[in-house]
Amino acid sequence: MVKLLMVKVSARRLSAEIIQLIAQEVRGCTRCGLASGRTRAVPGEGPADARIMLIGEGPGYHEDRQGRPFVGQSGQFLDDLLAMAGLARADVFIANVVKCRPPQNRDPQPDEVATCTEHYLYRQIEAIDPPVIVTLGRFSMSLFLPGERITRIHGQPRKAGGRLIVPMLHPAAALHQPQNRPLIEADFRGLPAILARAEAEQAAARPGPASARPDDDRPLEQLSLF
Ligand code: URA
Repeated sequence: MVKLLMVKVSARRLSAEIIQLIAQEVRGCTRCGLASGRTRAVPGEGPADARIMLIGEGPGYHEDRQGRPFVGQSGQFLDDLLAMAGLARADVFIANVVKCRPPQNRDPQPDEVATCTEHYLYRQIEAIDPPVIVTLGRFSMSLFLPGERITRIHGQPRKAGGRLIVPMLHPAAALHQPQNRPLIEADFRGLPAILARAEAEQAAARPGPASARPDDDRPLEQLSLF
């Protein structure tokens, strides 16, 4: 019993150290063109043992200034949505597909998404190993559920890579199109039941952490954290 507790504590410490290490790398990253236009990179934040990870698209104006995810208007709305699910920001890990603000908030390009996810996002997912990932918007969703349409499947959990992926509309889409508001609010209210299901399934079925990548069948020991 004591041994198991010690293993859990040291696993948690290791996850926290890996998350910190990735954040340092992100802050100094020059791997793609987005680096030259940023004020600050936005690695993401939250507990390294969070049970839910939220993944947005990329930093906007305020996030770029502060170096923190979802701190502008859509961030305030995200806080309200989390409260509807009985959650606080401190309970979840919030990250983005790309860690630097695209100029004029344009869509991230495929090469920027590929570079940033391979080097940072997938490693963050591996370190945190959340049973539930909430994708915010279509860029994030299509990493895990390619070919799906967010308007068709929002709020409906899907299995990918041993986790439950919950595709949500982006909070900004609900702010700009008020008819989306009741949809995203209802989807967030459904989160506690989805988390309970995921925790139960994870406890019953998995000997170890799942993969960050939905199509990855490699055993854990072959996954590099660095
Ligand atoms: N929108 C996003 O997708 N991410 C942020 O961090 C802020 C706004």
